[in-house]
Parts: sequence; C-alpha cells; structure tokens
Amino acid sequence: MTVLLLGGTGEARALAGRLVEAGVPVVNSLAGAVAPTTLPPGEVRIGGFGGTEGLAAYLREQAIERVVDATHPFAARITEHAATACQAVGTPLLRLSRPSWLGRPDAATWRWVADLPAARVAAEELGSRVFLSVGRQSAEQFTGWTDRYVLLRVVEPPAFPVPDTWEVLAARGPFDLAAERALLADRRIEVLVTKDSGGRHTAAKLDAAAVLGVPVVVVKRPPDPAGVTVVESVGEALGWALAGR
Ligand SMILES: NC(=O)c1ccc[n+]([C@@H]2O[C@H](COP(=O)([O-])OP(=O)(O)OC[C@H]3O[C@@H](n4cnc5c(N)ncnc54)[C@H](OP(=O)(O)O)[C@@H]3O)[C@@H](O)[C@H]2O)c1
Repeated sequence: MTVLLLGGTGEARALAGRLVEAGVPVVNSLAGAVAPTTLPPGEVRIGGFGGTEGLAAYLREQAIERVVDATHPFAARITEHAATACQAVGTPLLRLSRPSWLGRPDAATWRWVADLPAARVAAEELGSRVFLSVGRQSAEQFTGWTDRYVLLRVVEPPAFPVPDTWEVLAARGPFDLAAERALLADRRIEVLVTKDSGGRHTAAKLDAAAVLGVPVVVVKRPPDPAGVTVVESVGEALGWALAGR
C-alpha cells in the first residue's frame, strides 16, 4: 500500500517517519516554496501537481491507495484539490490538521478576524508597533503600513520589497517563552498579528503576549472541506493509514 503524504509541516514529517518505521511505502509531496532543511523519510517529490486534474492523474498513475493531507491549516488550495481529486478517483483521504488555538484559555481575549484585510483594520485600532507573524506570502498584504514599525518574522526572507520602517527577522521555530517575551518587550510591541496556525511549535508568542498584556489579532482558519475526516494528531493519522493495510 502506498500512501501519498501531502506535507510541508512538522506533523507530516513526523508521520512520514512513523509510516516508514511501520514498513509502509510513503511518498512525501512538498510544494517547493521553501527550501527544506532536511528531507522527510521516504520517497520525496517536489512541486505542484497541476491542479485537481493533475493530482487525480497522479493518484491513478502512481496507484496511490491512501492520501493523508497533512499540509498547513492555511494551505486551503491544496486541501481543496486533495478533497476533489480523491473523491473523483475514489482514493480514501484523511486530513491531519494540528489543534486550533481556539481551545486555548486566552483565545477569548483575542480579536478573531475572518481574513488578512480584517486583521489589518483590527490591528490599526489596537497599536502602531506591530509584530507580524503571518507567513511571508500573507505579509505582503500589510505593505501599506509604511508609517509604523513592523517586526516581520518569517522562515525565509520575503520576495517583495519591505517598507523602510519594517524589521525582518528570519527565524525557524520552535520558539520559547523567555525569548518571545524578550523580543516583544525589546521591540516595544503594541499588537501581535497572527494566523490560527495552531499547535505548540509557534505558540510561545501568544504566551508572551498574554504575560505582557499585548493585544492579539488572529485570522481564523479556512474551513475543512466537507465530507473529509479530520484528525489532529500524528498517532491518529498513523492508525488510519495502517488500518488500510
Ligand atoms: N500557508 C501557510 O501559512 C503555510 C505555512 C507553513 C507551511 N506551509 C506549506 O507550504 C506549502 C504551500 O502552502 P500554500 O499555502 O502556498 O498552499 P496552497 O495555497 O494551498 O497551494 C498552492 C498550490 O501549491 C501546490 N502545493 C501546495 N502544497 C503542496 C504539496 N504539499 N505538494 C505539492 N504541491 C503543493 C499546489 O499546486 P498545484 O495546484 O499545481 O498542485 C497548490 O495548488 C504547503 O505544502 C503547506 O503545507 C504553508
């Protein structure tokens, strides 16, 4: 049984390791947008499939028996394509999506917004020194902020021109509370803008904001596609994949 694992996340990498350990052939699929530090265990293919039809053709040609979509919670397009292609081909699909930050006790104190433009408006009401932690592609929507200090943290430097008032910090998580607290305090951050990426890997900035009383603006996740089973842990996804053997 070959499992196609749509990846680009720590969870996908962890699941690949567990599947390989269990003797399951796995093909990791990466978009190729960011250079991986190390490749995940198992076979690796890099680059888009060419839309829904391309993915459906790939599933047929490679005789893929199960698909686990372990892409980032905000990677909505590939998630939608996976749902459509798997339904068309009749390939079982599971969505692995790390737990949302909605379950955190401090989540009710944040400003939850539907999208990036709404995040921009909300942040402008809350403060003028911004910690922008939304990923480098989404950050481009905030470049109208040429009149304020913005600390932009990204895994890889942005491809767009950054306003002079911005500071770019290229760093890869995980981050710890002490360092996040020091960063927010040192840059005199007045508002944190982020997306509900979820999980623990990048959550320390939220703990730091809570400790320092910094208001938080959070973009809600796109909805999961209808009819697709969703699990939150690597263990559950492993159990599902192994049950298909
Ligand atoms: N969005 C985020 O905030 C974020 C954060 C961390 C990591 N990532 C990872 O980065 C990748 C790209 O994210 P995105 O938000 O740009 O995705 P997206 O908007 O959902 O997808 C855009 C296109 O990229 C291709 N693609 C995306 N993920 C792929 C994968 N795992 N394997 C093969 N092709 C893939 C597909 O191209 P075709 O239509 O040609 O097949 C898709 O239509 C994802 O794999 C995701 O897990 C995203």
